[in-house]
Amino acid sequence: MCGIVGYTGPREAGPILLEGLKRLEYRGYDSAGIALVDESGDLFLAKKAGKLANLETEINGRTPHAALGLAHTRWATHGRPDDLNAHPHQDCSGEITVIHNGIIENFRELRDELEAAGHRLTSETDTEALAHLIEDAYEGDLADAVRAALRKVEGAYAIAVMHKREVSRLVGARLNVPLVVGRNGEESFIASDVSAILAHTNQVVFLEDGDVADVRPTGIEVTGVDGRPRSRELTTIDWTPEAAEKGGYETFMLKEIHEQPEALRQSLAGRLGRDGRISLPELEPMAAAVKAATRVELVACGTASYAAMVGASAIERWTDLPARVTVGSEFRYDPPPLDGRTLVIAVTQSGETADTIAPTRLARERGCPIVAVTNTVGSAITREADAILFLQAGPEIAVAASKTFVTQVTTLVVLAAAIARLRGTLPDDEEVGLVRALQALPSAAARALELNGPGASELARRYVNSRGFMYVGRGATYPAALEGALKLKEISYVHAEGYPAGELKHGPISLLDAECPLVAVATRSATYDKLVSNVMEGRARDARVIAVATEGDPQIERFADDVCWVPDTHEVVSPVLAIIPLQLFAYEIARARGTDVDQPRNLAKSVTVE
Ligand code: M6R
Repeated sequence: MCGIVGYTGPREAGPILLEGLKRLEYRGYDSAGIALVDESGDLFLAKKAGKLANLETEINGRTPHAALGLAHTRWATHGRPDDLNAHPHQDCSGEITVIHNGIIENFRELRDELEAAGHRLTSETDTEALAHLIEDAYEGDLADAVRAALRKVEGAYAIAVMHKREVSRLVGARLNVPLVVGRNGEESFIASDVSAILAHTNQVVFLEDGDVADVRPTGIEVTGVDGRPRSRELTTIDWTPEAAEKGGYETFMLKEIHEQPEALRQSLAGRLGRDGRISLPELEPMAAAVKAATRVELVACGTASYAAMVGASAIERWTDLPARVTVGSEFRYDPPPLDGRTLVIAVTQSGETADTIAPTRLARERGCPIVAVTNTVGSAITREADAILFLQAGPEIAVAASKTFVTQVTTLVVLAAAIARLRGTLPDDEEVGLVRALQALPSAAARALELNGPGASELARRYVNSRGFMYVGRGATYPAALEGALKLKEISYVHAEGYPAGELKHGPISLLDAECPLVAVATRSATYDKLVSNVMEGRARDARVIAVATEGDPQIERFADDVCWVPDTHEVVSPVLAIIPLQLFAYEIARARGTDVDQPRNLAKSVTVE
């Protein structure tokens, strides 16, 4: 997804902006650009398709002297990912420079009107229309012009704008796309997310929908697009810049896989009482709505939807409520019946996934009580919810989710137990057993890493030439099979499918042979024996079998060619441990195939377009 960084202050803007773009590379992008204005109003602009290194080559690794500037990484939505469509974009006079994340939905009408009025638009982008709209509205005050232009715009945007004649001023604005402003003494920053500017400041304002920020070295003023002042607080971010770096690992993903024990510890902190009870004060204001609920609808995408499956099954196990997971892109246009007694749980690590936010908004409009489960403070989903459960997993930079999957699972399981307790359906011994298992989970995850880390590359070597993989699970283990298959395909580009093991014989078994191994998530569960029978059927078709199994399982080695051992735990949270060897396996297959693990092709970390 696109990245924004802007600077105004006493220092050289160029190096700060390029460094900010580097920190945003994890979001995925296909071109990059930078614009700088010096104190005499001279403008420098460069943009280039491809990786940031292409832009650096274009400018010979040097930026000219300037204390004001904007920079952008683009992930194409309108128009090809080429030099011309790369941001920044400008008006006819070349005085106004704009960068933008999101989509201007009425850009065709705007473009037609602008061209009819004599403006010359040179790119295929929706963003360029904004620069010309601002040009039309400009009467000497950039913030006024931006506000006037935005009043004509429909869609979703985070923008940053500067004008050659206002040499220390940036204007930022957001609607449905994140934007933060950072402050540090005599300098200010603007960014699509905190990691771009964390090396310079931990004092940020999370802009809200409809905000326009007038950003100067000495401070910021926020108004609405109507010009009325809005009050916004500075938030202190406690993520260190080091926390967002690789810290000795070769990739962010490997670092994040290894951070899972700590992420689980932090995520569970405060949610497990010493008395053996679940503690979820965030849910208390919603107690009446939870007690009155007749059904639960979970909405999420990708990895988050697999974690949501674990949550739904825990809710049905401990409460009298039916619970269902629908992926956001389906929920939005074919929603289930929604009313004030439908409890909606939106799960999104970024909190900015358009496909998850839109259905949540719809549910809110229909009066549903809403719980958001997210990793991102200040994100869009937090404004749609009655209660917010933060994952507290720390920043996840790699595009492929790892530590946010396991913390989504535990947070949703805690939520399921809290709902059950509020409704009086959670037996005491179940709660005590669950809390014990959760308390042990961080060290069990560390053990799963110890057991599987050292052998992962050798295991991958044995299977790297396979044509494809069939991941199977049953009941509690099925979401882990889906997530394991997703990890493999997204980072290694090898085809993998996740299936309920019992379904193999209804079709996919025809794919199995010596070139298509079965990966069986066969940890201890109520349906273990059934799963083993299904896997035997696959083995009879010459498929090699990799099994993820619980330490001490006496029979697994009889039918598996390779076994990845994990510690025993409560069946409900077993995907947290089962996924660890599957993450490592996917990682090592990707490494063996030489793919870009942290930024796989065609993918973005936070998908803020539909
Ligand atoms: O930020 P979100 O949790 O809403 O993101 C949802 C999916 O886009 C995300 O989980 C995606 O599937 C990841 N690439 C998985 O690794």
